Amino acid sequence: MTTVRDVREMVGTEPITMLTAYDATTAELVEDAGVDVILVGDSLGNVVLGHDSTLPVTMDQMASHTAAVVRGTDDALVVTDLPFLSVGADRGDSVENAGRLLKEAGANAVKIESGPHTVELTEHLTDLGIPVMAHLGLTPQHVNRLGYTRQGTTQDAAEEIRDLAVAHEDAGAFALVLEHVPANLAAAITADLEIPTIGIGAGPDCDGQVLVVDDAVGLSESAPPFAEAFGNVRDAYADALDGYVDAVEGGQFPAEEHCHVADDLDLD
Ligand code: KIV
Ligand code: NA
Repeated sequence: MTTVRDVREMVGTEPITMLTAYDATTAELVEDAGVDVILVGDSLGNVVLGHDSTLPVTMDQMASHTAAVVRGTDDALVVTDLPFLSVGADRGDSVENAGRLLKEAGANAVKIESGPHTVELTEHLTDLGIPVMAHLGLTPQHVNRLGYTRQGTTQDAAEEIRDLAVAHEDAGAFALVLEHVPANLAAAITADLEIPTIGIGAGPDCDGQVLVVDDAVGLSESAPPFAEAFGNVRDAYADALDGYVDAVEGGQFPAEEHCHVADDLDLD
């Protein structure tokens, strides 16, 4: 089983691969591809649940989808997001919610959208045995404050992210996601830290990369400019569905091989 220590030890040896998954089938495929870390992102809200932000995602939804991903996984490290307002407001609630994703759903670690308010919490959770992946730069739970634009583009903003990165490493975070920040800032932070940085829209110099799986396989209807589709699953999916509709409407499905006749039945 991959552990947070294994992931830390990959720094400087080979790039860490991370993708999201929200269900057991996808988790199995992602793991079979050799991905090191599976993230049950709260992008669940946009990607699976049809919301236009991550804000409506609940703890029950994260727990349920995390459990499905864990059931679909043998070896990969499963990290799961703490959704909007599930951490940070109250310390007891934060511990209970983070703990639930390990105790009930079987995740190996949690990811928390980080800020000045999560340094002490990161230390507390780590002390309790809940490994924490930090997340800086564009933090979609802050969409109402930040929008979805690139972060860390001014000197002050870049220094704030850099300082928070060090503070979260010092607090015990085992890895740091950097989202939609300048590549040179991500490179500087990667050089500052011993723990792995995992970038999304953060350039090539992070210790690893993460994408939303639907974007990576070409299933999303639209994807952010920093994503890349490594296949065209949406067209393959649509073709298969057209094939089904055509076959039923044209009377080719079901065919003889799909059917079973019970000769002994008297149906007169
Ligand atoms: O929710 C998510 O998918 C994420 C990744 C994009 C890092 O947080
Ligand atoms: Na997320």
